[in-house]
Amino acid sequence: MSDPVIELRGVSKAFGDNVVLDSVDLSVRRGEVMVILGGSGSGKSVSLRHMNGLTHPDSGEVFVDGLEISRLAEEELVPVRKKVGMLFQMGALFDSMTVFENVAFALWEHTKMTDADVAARVAEVLGFVNLGPDVLPLLPSSLSGGMKKRVSLARTIALKPDVLLYDEPTTGLDPVTAMTINRLIVDLNTRLATTSVVVTHDIASALFVADRIAFLERGRFTFVGSPDEARRSDIAALRAFLAAEETGTRETTAP
Ligand SMILES: Nc1ncnc2c1ncn2[C@@H]1O[C@H](COP(=O)(O)OP(=O)(O)OP(=O)(O)O)[C@@H](O)[C@H]1O
Ligand SMILES: [Mg+2]
Repeated sequence: MSDPVIELRGVSKAFGDNVVLDSVDLSVRRGEVMVILGGSGSGKSVSLRHMNGLTHPDSGEVFVDGLEISRLAEEELVPVRKKVGMLFQMGALFDSMTVFENVAFALWEHTKMTDADVAARVAEVLGFVNLGPDVLPLLPSSLSGGMKKRVSLARTIALKPDVLLYDEPTTGLDPVTAMTINRLIVDLNTRLATTSVVVTHDIASALFVADRIAFLERGRFTFVGSPDEARRSDIAALRAFLAAEETGTRETTAP
């Protein structure tokens, strides 16, 4: 559980004058669920996108299983992206394709599986996210937000990635549906023996799924530790972040 699967070493990234990551180090251990917490615009998605080469650092290095990926060409990144699957913030299903086609697509693109094997694999991964064969012919437009997330997740796990990157997996979902996604993240991490990195600003979700939390503020990870350590942290911004959720509705401060 201790060797790193993903490592950012001294990674800096700016967009024009906007310094988003300022020489950050982060090490994701094999088998863990690592949650990246931080405010809107703090660079959570940007850090995640470095982990499968969707974004390249201005300086610093990114390692996936010991391979430095930050300067690889697009075609060299293809096997990296098979190994490191990503669930995008917006889901990104193909609107004109059925659920079956959406999930089968990656298998058609990246493997030489027979049609029968593809069909079996699609059914299997939909089963992992608790969806039955009734959804196969549906178009994304007829699915609820929670179902879309689950189909996206099925599509991502179809290629048997070693690492799963989740960008805001529960955003926009009602609390009950969000909790089913949280349970799936933990369940899949165990059953598929993957490593997961989850970006969120949903504290309840973070505390539920995380083995460790990394807190991003002003371009740096100012805290990395367990949820318990996060609660006891003396980092003011992190405490405020966690407290904002716990007292989230309305605090009575009347004297
Ligand atoms: N491709 C890009 N071009 C220019 N600026 C970008 C690009 N991608 C991200 N940024 C900027 O980098 C900063 C961090 O963005 P990022 O999307 O990582 O934030 P985030 O923490 O994921 O926020 P949110 O919680 O709103 O999703 C923002 O100021 C954003 O505008
Ligand atoms: Mg984001």
